[in-house]
Amino acid sequence: MASTKPPFVTVKTTLPILPFPLNSARAPVATFRLLIRPLSSSDVHGLHRIRSQPEVMANDLQGRPDATLEETQPQLTRFLPPNDEKTYHFAICLKETEEFIGIGGCHSIASVFGWPAIGYMLTRERWGQGLTTEFTRAFLEMWKTLPRREVEIQVDPRSLLDGEVAGGVVKEQVASLTPWDNFASARVMEKSGFEEFLVWSEPDLRDLSVDIELRGFRYVWDQN
Ligand SMILES: CC(C)(COP(=O)(O)OP(=O)(O)OC[C@H]1O[C@@H](n2cnc3c(N)ncnc32)[C@H](O)[C@@H]1OP(=O)(O)O)[C@@H](O)C(=O)NCCC(=O)NCCS
Repeated sequence: MASTKPPFVTVKTTLPILPFPLNSARAPVATFRLLIRPLSSSDVHGLHRIRSQPEVMANDLQGRPDATLEETQPQLTRFLPPNDEKTYHFAICLKETEEFIGIGGCHSIASVFGWPAIGYMLTRERWGQGLTTEFTRAFLEMWKTLPRREVEIQVDPRSLLDGEVAGGVVKEQVASLTPWDNFASARVMEKSGFEEFLVWSEPDLRDLSVDIELRGFRYVWDQN
């Protein structure tokens, strides 16, 4: 049976200042094997190729691959100007060839638990090589260096750390959720420093007659 979500509570914390640095101002970041660069409108073809793969879309809310380029377009538009003011999402490319192999970053500053949320998808042929973990670790470093301000926000109280209370000052987090059986994504998060803090079930938005079991992860870093 689906668990009941508690009401969100107000906390004092920090968050990156909005607008985010715009795509036009984001410098590409190189890791050992990757080039993490701002998205551009020409990435629609690369993104469509990835979103056409049934394995990639199996855990997506849409529940099926994109059928046409037109169906993919809004999934890119949400990260292009002017939407880059409130999203921090990037193209994941191979450093050596600049081949577009995935997409990832923060798609919402106030997501599932009220915290900024991270997401990613990688083309099927590149799975299992540690590339998404390499991206996620680099992305978190990019995230942590963004300029910040103090804020009061509403969050799910279940995301709070031991000793943190509603109304109080709490550590900033990045959160994410995944279907219970998306073991690859859960492992990426574990390897990137996230901890699982919640398992719950709720109606599956793809078929409201059945429940889906979900896992919530949070990433908290040394903020002193
Ligand atoms: C999730 C996803 C991005 C992972 O990409 P990836 O580049 O293969 O990830 P990595 O190689 O960095 O790490 C995957 C880890 O999961 C492990 N893994 C993969 N499938 C697994 C399974 N069925 N059971 C247990 N572990 C599994 C791998 O062994 C690896 O861990 P290891 O390095 O300790 O061996 C990719 O599968 C994907 O694009 N999926 C579709 C989109 C998606 O689900 N996005 C996340 C939404 S929550």
